[in-house]
Amino acid sequence: MMEPGYRSVSRRDSRSLVGYKHACHAMLFAQDHGKLFGRIPMRYALLMQMRFDGKIGFPGGFVDIRDHSLEDGLNRELAEELGCDQKLLCVTESDYRSSHATDAMPQKVVAHFYIKQLSLADLHRIEVAAVHAKDHGREVMGTIRVPLYTLRDGFGGLPAFLTNTFIGNAKEQLIYALRTLKLLSEEAIQTAISAGQEG
Ligand code: GTP
Ligand code: MN
Ligand code: MN
Ligand code: MN
Ligand code: MN
Ligand code: MN
Repeated sequence: MMEPGYRSVSRRDSRSLVGYKHACHAMLFAQDHGKLFGRIPMRYALLMQMRFDGKIGFPGGFVDIRDHSLEDGLNRELAEELGCDQKLLCVTESDYRSSHATDAMPQKVVAHFYIKQLSLADLHRIEVAAVHAKDHGREVMGTIRVPLYTLRDGFGGLPAFLTNTFIGNAKEQLIYALRTLKLLSEEAIQTAISAGQEG
């Protein structure tokens, strides 16, 4: 499933890779019992963002591992991009999920991935704060929720969303999270991926 060019590495081994920059990104999500049109379960509110380059990714960014822990760097990026205070959102080592290295140009990057579940109320507070973030309207064009349902036409919703252009391996990180946290059934995930490829 992982895009060619991205290989899984352990958190520890990634530190000894020479010539790689490290980046940390976080998927924030909450249970959402609401229904679209009073009928379609939203299931979860899951945050991604529209980036300055028109691609979709998770909040986060580059971390200087010589001076900072991965989590300190990630929390700084989250403050810049989401503008929320540490009381509302603080990612810790227990939220760490995976690391993937890529040699793709223009630079060698190790992408570390974190997942954190929040209450829907806190997630909404983060969305509200995000429009006042330092990077809002600059590096970040807006926080978005990922549609996790598929409409009757078999394409609207998650399949259509997956046809966007994603930065790095963000799309694989999203699918990995949906799968491992069992936010959607394996069948729903497979259907969304293949419907998107045909669409
Ligand atoms: P600058 O302040 O402009 O350096 O941006 P930043 O520190 O916020 O970095 P950015 O979020 O763009 O992430 C750094 C690098 O990580 C990018 O150049 C991509 O290669 C990669 N990247 C960005 N977003 C994601 C993401 O959601 N998932 C993954 N896997 N990689 C990402
Ligand atoms: Mn309306
Ligand atoms: Mn940033
Ligand atoms: Mn960023
Ligand atoms: Mn940065
Ligand atoms: Mn920046």
